[in-house]
Amino acid sequence: MTSDKVRSIRILDTTLRDGEQTPGVSLTAEDKIEIAQQLSKLGVDIIEAGFPSSSEGERKIVKEIAKQGLTSKICALSRCTKKDIDAALECDVDIIHVFIPTSPVQMKYAVNMTPQQVLDSAVESIQYVKKHGVACEFSPMDATRTEKPFLKEICLAAQDAGMDSLNTPDTVGCMIPRTTYEFFKELKSYIKVPLSAHCHNDFGLAVANSLAAVEAGADQVHTAINGLGERAGNAALEEVVTTLHVVYGYKTNINTRLLYSTSRMVSSLSGVSVQVNKAIVGENAFAHESGIHTRGVTEQPLTFEPISPELVGRTRKLVAGKLAGTRGIQAELNEIGIHPTDAQLADIVKRVKELGDKGKMVTDADLIAITSAVMGQVVGEEKIVDLCDMAVVTGIKVIPTASVRLMLDGKEYVAAETGVGPVDAVLKAITKLTSNLKQIRLSEYRLEAITGGSNAVAEVVIKVEDENGRIVSARAAREDIVMASVEAMINGINKLLLKNSKQGNTK
Ligand code: KIV
Ligand code: ZN
Repeated sequence: MTSDKVRSIRILDTTLRDGEQTPGVSLTAEDKIEIAQQLSKLGVDIIEAGFPSSSEGERKIVKEIAKQGLTSKICALSRCTKKDIDAALECDVDIIHVFIPTSPVQMKYAVNMTPQQVLDSAVESIQYVKKHGVACEFSPMDATRTEKPFLKEICLAAQDAGMDSLNTPDTVGCMIPRTTYEFFKELKSYIKVPLSAHCHNDFGLAVANSLAAVEAGADQVHTAINGLGERAGNAALEEVVTTLHVVYGYKTNINTRLLYSTSRMVSSLSGVSVQVNKAIVGENAFAHESGIHTRGVTEQPLTFEPISPELVGRTRKLVAGKLAGTRGIQAELNEIGIHPTDAQLADIVKRVKELGDKGKMVTDADLIAITSAVMGQVVGEEKIVDLCDMAVVTGIKVIPTASVRLMLDGKEYVAAETGVGPVDAVLKAITKLTSNLKQIRLSEYRLEAITGGSNAVAEVVIKVEDENGRIVSARAAREDIVMASVEAMINGINKLLLKNSKQGNTK
């Protein structure tokens, strides 16, 4: 009998374990708990919360995450030793993920064990976990470089010992989709428990290999938000899941509308920024500049968008620049309530292209300034936020501190903040104050000196972003870097609030 049932794939997210192994990333207990709560809301089936035996602090965090009562199951990583498993058991997790190297190079140089010792440790460890009534996932580490007969022997022994699922890591990311497919097909012929893929991205193939594993019958994929993880990272959750839903027509329990906000949260807490052209969550993933594209998407989004941005919690962005077309610029202006005549629009487009031809990025604020000049009237200049006053202190033995007084929607507010330097302090104070109206964060800051010398004019280009992923850019040029930064920031915040208010979305 054939079944029409849609295939459902389980997601184990390892942002908090392999993701935290990203060089330079170290999350606090509060960060990890906040991310775990978000992953659970997102719909991740299993959260790999950490490696309890690695430190006392890590053990406490994993235990705390397990106590949160999240919908996701909580898993802890453990080597195949009694001490490690005891540390994981102490955390009251739902699943213990035991691993041991099985490739010749790792058995010899990473743990200095014989294949028989490795096999015995794996079996004893799985039995020990199961004896405590906890589910056990087993990983023969570096499985894809393990000799086939030994891989089969240890996986069958692990199955007999009671493992609940088998994860076969492509630890150094050396597979390609075809070999991954064959690898999982073979596993599937002799392993009866659910199979899981854990692919690393050393050759940029982690997502493609994970999908090939699913094609061959894998039931679960290990992922990390934004593709975080050791070296080049793990398979990115947002890419794997969106492809499974949209391209394959499969199901996961992930609420794709929360993908972008989750990506932003992980990026901000981990300090690892997302490349602008990254699929699904990169700043440019739903941005269009060239004339043919902007015209196409405003007529019919499917022309240049394979999925609607809303599906992954985003909005479309039309960008002004030298490749921009009339339609795109018109749509961008209409969005903020500006309606130039055809002749004015043609002039605006010409001036935008001229600026772009000079190698300049045309910011949203530039577009409004050009439009004001062409239309001979001040447009889009409603100031929801206005600077009344500010003071900055910096020096050798003082912590850079800024105090700022702003008018926000007609009311006066004051705040002070410290920072790594005067610019950081003042921008933090502004962000703190504007959070009274809307959560807005600085997502990019670029400083360029236009002229030479200590009295050089500094040009600051910034991007600010609201919690709905709306991004607006602005610039300011002055001899005083702090003032240029403040002006660009306030300019950008005003444009963002203006866009929101025109779209009836102030909060
Ligand atoms: O990449 C890997 O092999 C791992 C194991 C610990 C599962 O992360
Ligand atoms: Zn890994």
